[in-house]
Amino acid sequence: MNITEIKSKFPVFKKNSNLVFLDTAASSLKVDQMINATNNCYTNQYANIHRGNYELSSKLTKYFEDARVKVADYLNVSSKNIIFVKSATEGINLVSSAMSSSYFKDGDEIVLSYLEHHANLIPWHLVNKNIKIVPLNINLKGEILYNELKDKINSKTKLISLTHMSNVTGSITDFEKVRELSKNYNIPLLIDGCQYAPHKKVDLKELDPDFYVFSAHKIYGPSGLGVLYMKDRWIDSFPPYQGGGQMINDVDIESSSYADGYEKFEAGTPPIAPVIGFSSSIDFMKQTGPDEIYNHEMQLHDNALEKLKKINNINIYGTSKNKGAIISFSINGIHNSDLGAMLDKKNIAIRTGHHCCQPLMKFYKISGTSRVSFGVYNTFEDVDYFVDSLEEIIKILQ
Ligand SMILES: Cc1ncc(COP(=O)(O)O)c(C=O)c1O
Repeated sequence: MNITEIKSKFPVFKKNSNLVFLDTAASSLKVDQMINATNNCYTNQYANIHRGNYELSSKLTKYFEDARVKVADYLNVSSKNIIFVKSATEGINLVSSAMSSSYFKDGDEIVLSYLEHHANLIPWHLVNKNIKIVPLNINLKGEILYNELKDKINSKTKLISLTHMSNVTGSITDFEKVRELSKNYNIPLLIDGCQYAPHKKVDLKELDPDFYVFSAHKIYGPSGLGVLYMKDRWIDSFPPYQGGGQMINDVDIESSSYADGYEKFEAGTPPIAPVIGFSSSIDFMKQTGPDEIYNHEMQLHDNALEKLKKINNINIYGTSKNKGAIISFSINGIHNSDLGAMLDKKNIAIRTGHHCCQPLMKFYKISGTSRVSFGVYNTFEDVDYFVDSLEEIIKILQ
């Protein structure tokens, strides 16, 4: 991969050429073709979609629906199973809300893991039935203990909801091990793909979950847009999440009936420009190649890990062999937020804190970590500068 060429596609580096951005897991930098497509949408194409019987509206409606097809093709599924939401968080809330009113019964159980982001925990806490959360334990490497699955599943288990890749440890979940059991026991599977989808090819036909969610802003795309893949069975049986324009079949003053298919879940004016922009982020991913992106990021990860391991008093959280390019660490005697602030003075952006994973922090008996996460635009020079700066800061702070 020609990183100089790739970096030139990220306009932030034009004015801030020395920026070392190591916080892609929180949100990625933005690629020019996405910015240009969004700009063009607002400048030349904009009208509300689906309702207008004039050219601007009907053309943009077509581009919007073409984008749905592009996202679906990228995931190797049908566009009728793709629902646009405002974020991955909203996608999971949609599923939990629908399951809350139409699926769960008191006494049901959900299997999750200690790796989950709050976005895949709290929506289940909000379920208005008395359901039990059954957590899968992990080991110190940050790997799910798959051998627990069999014992934790029973006739009351109504959902398995797991992250595809941890935003703290980078561990990648082995869904072959999960899928076999979930299929045998006929338990639906939700996969939180927020951290995996930006870095590796996602083939939903192969993975075969009932639900898959991710956010566009972590894939060089716009904020304000999430993608929720849902199998037909659930699209047909779930009630709407929100009510409003577009999701209807017929409305009377006292009652209404709803559209079939994904439209039922897209009430109101959708995130039009973000969807148009995201279509170009998908083009960027296809042109660059998710596998190439993953290999490049993992080379940086391995190089950084090798160097970090040599630092005295460092703790590294998550050492699974099957992982993505995220490293969480702490240095004894130094507060993570001091480290983050000092690195920021050197134009290095990292993330510190609990990363919306408090149960995982409690598992490691810590309050937070410093986290570096790599994106397509990072270089070996970034790694060197980061590690050298870190060593300098440790000398000052210790
Ligand atoms: C693993 C994981 N799941 C869910 C989310 C929530 O994503 P969003 O805030 O875009 O809804 C994040 C965000 O960091 C995440 O890393």
